[in-house]
Amino acid sequence: MIVVTGATGQLGTLVVEGLINQVPVEQIAVVARDAAKAARFGELGVEVRVGDYDDPASLADAFGPNEKVLLISGSEVGRRAPQHKAVIDAAKRAGVALLAYTSILGGPAADFELAREHQITERYLIDSGLPYVLLRNGWYHENYTGNLAEAVAAGALTTSTGPGARVASAARSDFAAAAVAVLTTEGHANREYELSGDEAWTFDEFAAEAARQTGGDFKVNRISGEELRGILTGQGVPDPIAAILVGVDVAITEGLLATRTGDLAALIGRPTVPVAEAIAKGLKA
Ligand SMILES: NC(=O)c1ccc[n+]([C@@H]2O[C@H](COP(=O)([O-])OP(=O)(O)OC[C@H]3O[C@@H](n4cnc5c(N)ncnc54)[C@H](OP(=O)(O)O)[C@@H]3O)[C@@H](O)[C@H]2O)c1
Repeated sequence: MIVVTGATGQLGTLVVEGLINQVPVEQIAVVARDAAKAARFGELGVEVRVGDYDDPASLADAFGPNEKVLLISGSEVGRRAPQHKAVIDAAKRAGVALLAYTSILGGPAADFELAREHQITERYLIDSGLPYVLLRNGWYHENYTGNLAEAVAAGALTTSTGPGARVASAARSDFAAAAVAVLTTEGHANREYELSGDEAWTFDEFAAEAARQTGGDFKVNRISGEELRGILTGQGVPDPIAAILVGVDVAITEGLLATRTGDLAALIGRPTVPVAEAIAKGLKA
């Protein structure tokens, strides 16, 4: 049995869809905090188990002996270390065969605040003695293409990254395909994969590509970290989270999300989706 947590999220949905294409549906289970949200998987024959990362007792029956588990990191920044610990504890008690975790590119070397909970989780997972896989995911293309129509309407991509900063982002669907690969093939136990796109683009290159595709004027609007923090809090983002997001731009400027190892293309067996393709998709959405 292959069990996916966080299955009702964007990455999880792509992973479950990928698994359904590759293994018999009766060998797939999902763990969701909201059974209603997972009902569409249930209708396809996937086993739906209810469990909340915040409630260790709810995870008691989430996993079974010899199952392969994908722990998709939670989305509530600041609460994730105890949440992930609860999942790992439950998986260990159940005697799972493998636990793959969606971490952050660079792992222990990712020296920025958003990475801390991933680093704590990686350590806890390794120390648990469970056979593990660290899927160290880089940035999603969709972080930039998800609201591209809005940015195009505003005429600029706003960033507090410095000139020349590069991001080796990749499509969420490619990270999902990598997770499917480690869950459906052998030889991944106790391995760490540094997952990122084949190309590392600059914000000027990104804006030029969006301008080329739209035929309009589209530029980079470089602002300071403090300005970005103000914009984010003005949009209702809590200040500590805004500070963490500004920290990501600092990390990008330092090159921490530009690492390219080829691990992602190797796992999925093809080149990664180019950012230009993601821009085209973002513009159509
Ligand atoms: N690499 C990147 O660029 C990037 C960007 C954003 C996030 N991430 C990380 O990657 C993860 C997956 O990305 P995504 O795009 O799929 O995010 P997402 O759509 O927000 O999905 C997050 C998933 O985690 C589940 N979850 C959150 N808190 C939970 C809890 N207390 N108990 C059980 N499940 C819980 C959510 O359940 P519900 O469906 O019930 O909400 C959802 O299924 C994120 O959670 C985050 O850790 C990475």
